[in-house]
Amino acid sequence: MKIKLINLSKTFISPRRRVKAVNNINLEIGKGEFFVILGPSGCGKSTLLNLIAGLEKPSSGEIYFGEKLVASKEKKIFIPPKDRNVAMVFQSYALYPHLNVFENIAFPLRIQKLDKHSIKKEVEKIAEMLEIKDLLFARPSELSGGQKQRVAIARALVRKPSVLLLDEPLSNLDAQLRINARAEIKFLQKELKITTIYVTHDQIEAMSLGDRIAVMNKGKIEQIGSPEDLYKNPKNLFVAKFIGTIPINLIETEILEEDKKLYSLLGDLKIKIPDDKKEFIKEGKIIIGIRSEHLKINPKSADYNILARVKVIEPLGREYLIHIEYKNYTFKVLSLEKISEKEIIVGFNQQDLYFF
Ligand SMILES: Nc1ncnc2c1ncn2[C@@H]1O[C@H](COP(=O)(O)OP(=O)(O)O)[C@@H](O)[C@H]1O
Ligand SMILES: [Mg+2]
Repeated sequence: MKIKLINLSKTFISPRRRVKAVNNINLEIGKGEFFVILGPSGCGKSTLLNLIAGLEKPSSGEIYFGEKLVASKEKKIFIPPKDRNVAMVFQSYALYPHLNVFENIAFPLRIQKLDKHSIKKEVEKIAEMLEIKDLLFARPSELSGGQKQRVAIARALVRKPSVLLLDEPLSNLDAQLRINARAEIKFLQKELKITTIYVTHDQIEAMSLGDRIAVMNKGKIEQIGSPEDLYKNPKNLFVAKFIGTIPINLIETEILEEDKKLYSLLGDLKIKIPDDKKEFIKEGKIIIGIRSEHLKINPKSADYNILARVKVIEPLGREYLIHIEYKNYTFKVLSLEKISEKEIIVGFNQQDLYFF
């Protein structure tokens, strides 16, 4: 099922404040796509998901499921959640504590008044798929976090929804479990080819799951792209900071104009500012960004070289994160080798620089 949002907004109004939780969002999610909404806490992710599910009504704008208009304030159309064929998985799992696993999974089918025999068949099929068949007669209170999460997913998938909505479904799991559960969700989604919208504040999760990711900030979408695209071509500072396991090095520099050319001054270095980046100059300053893997120690050749002092070395397992100091600037450098020197040459190339 294709989903289209047009100028979608949701404002919460209470006596004390007015929050534009979702602010004029336009996007299109393809049939069978795994679409991730990534953003910090409070940016409006859950509200956006709830609007798609039909748990909230838009303040303005429209939502289409395929060619069908399911919500429009202006046209006074609102299709309730039960008629949208969506299933949702919440962070809290929201299992019914008084029902066993079988009955939890069967619940949506009972509402649909499916016959007993079919219910049993469908529940067993999905339980097999999620490897929870031997838990069918346990109560939620007897399950681990990971098991509860599987049951919640099984319950969501059992009635074969055309859209699957997941709101931070892994945040209650510990790190190791999260990695496995993440891979399982991805595998399941590719098997079932069900249009999926997945909300998270965790950029690693977003990068590893999404066919495309929308980076959200204060109710708006900052950028939409594939994981590679967002990493390589962040459109602005917010996206650059948000994407990447090791935060990008960002340095505010002064501008120098020489022979009608503009440079960013990094200590003694004069860094060329490409013509199409001049728009980023504000009050005689520009921010340059460089990812830690693009800083090379003792490079054979590099467009720019600095002599830097080694401050701290953090072993990351396979690699080392080396914190260096150059003039008043600090950088993080990713290195495969451990450094014993106190001072090192660090080089980088023009093509690896970002300007904001
Ligand atoms: N029912 C509500 N009433 C009033 N304000 C709300 C309601 N739900 C969410 N908000 C506000 O809308 C903003 C976005 O919230 P939310 O969508 O939950 O963000 P996220 O899921 O990204 O953490 C927040 O400022 C939050 O306080
Ligand atoms: Mg939320």
